Amino acid sequence: MLMQANLGQSGSAHVIVLGNEKGGSGKSTTALHIAVALLKAGQRVATIDLDCRQQSFTRYIANRQAWARRTGLALELPRHVCIKLGETMQIAENESAEFEQFMTAVSTVERMFDFIVIDTPGSDSYLMRLAHSMADTLVTPINDSFLDFDVLGTVDAATYSVTGESHYAEMVRDSRRKRRQLDGASMDWIVVRNRLSMLGSRNTQFVANGLKQLSFRLGFRAIDGFAERVV
Ligand SMILES: Nc1ncnc2c1ncn2[C@@H]1O[C@H](COP(=O)(O)OP(=O)(O)O)[C@@H](O)[C@H]1O
Ligand SMILES: [Mg+2]
Repeated sequence: MLMQANLGQSGSAHVIVLGNEKGGSGKSTTALHIAVALLKAGQRVATIDLDCRQQSFTRYIANRQAWARRTGLALELPRHVCIKLGETMQIAENESAEFEQFMTAVSTVERMFDFIVIDTPGSDSYLMRLAHSMADTLVTPINDSFLDFDVLGTVDAATYSVTGESHYAEMVRDSRRKRRQLDGASMDWIVVRNRLSMLGSRNTQFVANGLKQLSFRLGFRAIDGFAERVV
């Protein structure tokens, strides 16, 4: 826990966590783009994959490495660790093994790197919560539609007034509170609209307005992310 208290303070890495309690919203994709952009800007970047069932982030990095080898291009690569999930029948035992691995990974890199980019699974878990409580910056990608709002809260489609907060938003609030109590640091929460339609529909404007209302209530900044693109 002491280590947790040190995170984010001067001399240790800035922690960026990708989180959203929904699969397929673009966490792993955005994690890779953030890591590569930081590397290109000359920052020292370590990456941690906490979604070891899917391992998308780990695969994206492995693909980049393979491509660099094949083409001979000097592509920037982060120092990467994938945390293995505990596989015993005892939840407490699994969590303690995961905690151990995660803390070792963080303490190994926190003084040698400028940024740690952490990708999390799209479901509530012990490791996912722990990562959220360490975040200096939390990045939450959401697909650009009203349907994906429910990960943050509910908005009245006619008036845009916020009618409720989601389980995930409450979890983030809780992580923020813990973090503030621990070391007085405040987390910057950024919600990124992913898969933006280039057509600029009416619906897109509704989404932008709804997000704005939610951002006041929940305390995040909403920004435009990637357009829908052919992968
Ligand atoms: N802007 C985008 N345009 C098109 N496809 C996207 C975009 N962002 C993500 N995807 C695709 O959507 C799928 C889910 O993205 P991923 O980053 O793995 O989400 P998550 O990590 O939140 O589950 C992947 O196949 C990814 O390539
Ligand atoms: Mg993922």
